[in-house]
Amino acid sequence: MMNDPMARYAFIAKGESAELFDIGNGQALKLFRDSVSDEMIAREAEASIHAGAYGVPTAAAIRRQTWGGRRGIVYPRLEGSTLMDWIRRNPMRAGWALSQMGVIHGKMHRAGGGALRPLKKVLATDIVYGPAPLTVQRAAIAYLETLPDGDVLTHGDFHLGNVMMTPPEMMVIDWSKAAAGHPAADAVRSEMLMRFGIGPADWVTNLWRDWAAGRLRRAWLAALPDVNGRDLDAWRPVVALAWLRARDARRTPAFMRYMDKALQRVGLPTLH
Ligand SMILES: Nc1ncnc2c1ncn2[C@@H]1O[C@H](COP(=O)(O)OP(=O)(O)OP(=O)(O)O)[C@@H](O)[C@H]1O
Ligand SMILES: [Mg+2]
Repeated sequence: MMNDPMARYAFIAKGESAELFDIGNGQALKLFRDSVSDEMIAREAEASIHAGAYGVPTAAAIRRQTWGGRRGIVYPRLEGSTLMDWIRRNPMRAGWALSQMGVIHGKMHRAGGGALRPLKKVLATDIVYGPAPLTVQRAAIAYLETLPDGDVLTHGDFHLGNVMMTPPEMMVIDWSKAAAGHPAADAVRSEMLMRFGIGPADWVTNLWRDWAAGRLRRAWLAALPDVNGRDLDAWRPVVALAWLRARDARRTPAFMRYMDKALQRVGLPTLH
């Protein structure tokens, strides 16, 4: 272990794209895997700082740091666990936690998107590079152009694993997919992550997932008087098509039905 540069630091956790270590002084170093692009790392740091400055509860990046040849970001070390783990231990308080999460999402969506990349462009790229047939792609892109740009701070990956239960309040982490765009696009992405994202997908969990998505939506809608369920309906088909590009195969038949229904509702061609 002598030549492992991180050996003297305590490992905290790891995700798909990085590992976190406690480097002392109340700080955590997030070290990225080589497959993560420089652009993504820069965006994550920038968006976290931007969010923090707007009063969104988050750990804002302190500095960039490479370590043992790996690229990293230093963050304030947060206490507690992800909302996912916390809900497993406190299932009876899930409703409360999900409502809080929706309130925080609403708060995020009252912040401006600053110089972040435009979300509509991200969606268009993901649709075009995704697996949908060309006819569906073309119609969806034309439809996307008719939707409003929006200019609020969107997270892009707002799920139970990217919110930490850090007393006294929840904190949002992992801003690598942030953009400036319409709040409803970000809220339907969270709906999809909740209902069809990674994690257990047995039928009891699926019932819970659908219920949880509803709790989250209600709290978010209540926090933002200017958006409503019709905005969610308008964004759902394009966000679903964009998500096809990166999605793994969880609850695939259910997701396909959900997407076809969303496409049909706005008069777009369906996949099946
Ligand atoms: N500032 C922090 N302080 C303490 N623990 C943290 C902090 N940031 C993240 N973590 C822990 O590290 C885990 C991974 O962090 P994060 O979600 O940022 O990484 P990731 O690899 O980008 O995740 P993903 O798997 O979503 O791609 C989190 O689930 C959380 O448990
Ligand atoms: Mg994460």
